[in-house]
Amino acid sequence: MTDDNKQTKPLNSTEPAIAYTHCCVSGAVSKDGISLIQGDSLQALKGYGDKQFDWAIIDPPYGIDVANDDRFGKKSSKKAATKTKDYAKKDWDLGVPTTEFWDELFRVSKNQIVWGVNYFADPRLCGGRIFWDKEVPEDYTKSKGELAYRSTGVGVDYIKVTWHGMIQHDMKNKEVRIHPTQKPVHLYKKLLKKYTSEGDLILDTHLGSGSIAIACHQMKRKLVGL
Ligand SMILES: C[S@@+](CC[C@H](N)C(=O)[O-])C[C@H]1O[C@@H](n2cnc3c(N)ncnc32)[C@H](O)[C@@H]1O
Repeated sequence: MTDDNKQTKPLNSTEPAIAYTHCCVSGAVSKDGISLIQGDSLQALKGYGDKQFDWAIIDPPYGIDVANDDRFGKKSSKKAATKTKDYAKKDWDLGVPTTEFWDELFRVSKNQIVWGVNYFADPRLCGGRIFWDKEVPEDYTKSKGELAYRSTGVGVDYIKVTWHGMIQHDMKNKEVRIHPTQKPVHLYKKLLKKYTSEGDLILDTHLGSGSIAIACHQMKRKLVGL
């Protein structure tokens, strides 16, 4: 977790704030379940043991400078759903994770889900895929979904969670968007239900908005979020 995404309020106004342990030291796991650690993820990973995590579910920078994408800034069209959000301009998406990062990730976790796999060249990310269908209308120029690597199986799995502009799967309980590449709590809940088990220890090396922490809390999974 870097400075730009310190979370002060719950993402979904109907949800109570999570009681979490903030700023544990690297290597720590809160027995309450949710541990949030501020700092560089690679350095923090070095504090954890081999295969300590049941699952790493991660969403690293894609190296496409999405943080400064005009879709999220003042130049966006008046119709753009995200225009009113004042996302700070940042430099966090200028590079992709290094080989050393992947070495550490595969060392500390038994299984992995890695969003943005189409941006990464590491050969260990060859294998199963998850396609997240955002239900973006066909004639929109935007990307229709996102791809993840999954370490279990070699086929392409499919998850549908509506998420584009102001449109979300549950329009009565909309999630507040605080991060340009925020993934919905509902998506993480579906992933946790499908791939993990109650009580599993999950790792997210690039927490962003922290929506995975809400999902883990609700689904009774433990989390270390960096
Ligand atoms: C693709 S976003 C993750 C979005 C997240 N999945 C969500 O739902 O909000 C990547 C995040 O990683 C953070 N980040 C970039 N480099 C980092 C590093 N070295 N250590 C920890 N976090 C980092 C960025 O600040 C950004 O918030």
